[in-house]
Amino acid sequence: MGKRFEERYKTGDTPWDHGTPDINLIDMVIQRPISKCKVLDIGCGTGNNAIWLAQQHFMVTGCDISQTAIEKAKKKASMSNINCSFIVADFLNNGVPGSPFGFVFDRGCLHSVDTDEERRRFAENVASHLEEGGLWLTLAGNADEQVREIGPPQLTARELVTAVEPYCEVISLAASHFGSNQSNPPQAWVCLMRKRKGIQ
Ligand SMILES: C[S@@+](CC[C@H](N)C(=O)[O-])C[C@H]1O[C@@H](n2cnc3c(N)ncnc32)[C@H](O)[C@@H]1O
Repeated sequence: MGKRFEERYKTGDTPWDHGTPDINLIDMVIQRPISKCKVLDIGCGTGNNAIWLAQQHFMVTGCDISQTAIEKAKKKASMSNINCSFIVADFLNNGVPGSPFGFVFDRGCLHSVDTDEERRRFAENVASHLEEGGLWLTLAGNADEQVREIGPPQLTARELVTAVEPYCEVISLAASHFGSNQSNPPQAWVCLMRKRKGIQ
């Protein structure tokens, strides 16, 4: 999977990257609100969401399997004079320094994971990076929409919940759309979770 994403960042084939933070993240952070804390953005891409979070005074680490994406994220942050840590990491197989985090965010990373077992492992790894009671917001493609010619991988609500429920309580699961500059953006799940008590 890493090579696939690396190639796409190198050739600019990144339709999900519209250069701005996702509206679903902004709404959640502002309306819930999410208190200032250490944040991990998994599969942060070129850093649009991580940089926005840092601008809101969160202490942000972004990780991505693609070295090119991380180089772009570092460049963007430095050009805007934003303090963010960006590291290359395969989150399915590695930990990320800085735990525990109060808030984990991923836009399109969990949904890029192919199998039930790998998604369960991803969720277990998220929980191991969260502090007790820490929150995880995932934005994932929604399988209630017809598959598009060019569009995100899609999960059913059942696939999403099956992966996360052993490790997290689902606080809210809503059908929405990805933040996008397209006139007809892809449907998304917006799922907010809290790490279960007693999970390491
Ligand atoms: C759909 S893109 C979204 C990127 C970014 N979150 C955004 O909103 O622009 C999914 C991202 O997850 C990254 N990714 C996929 N599998 C990963 C893994 N196992 N560990 C870390 N990052 C991964 C990809 O390189 C890619 O940047």
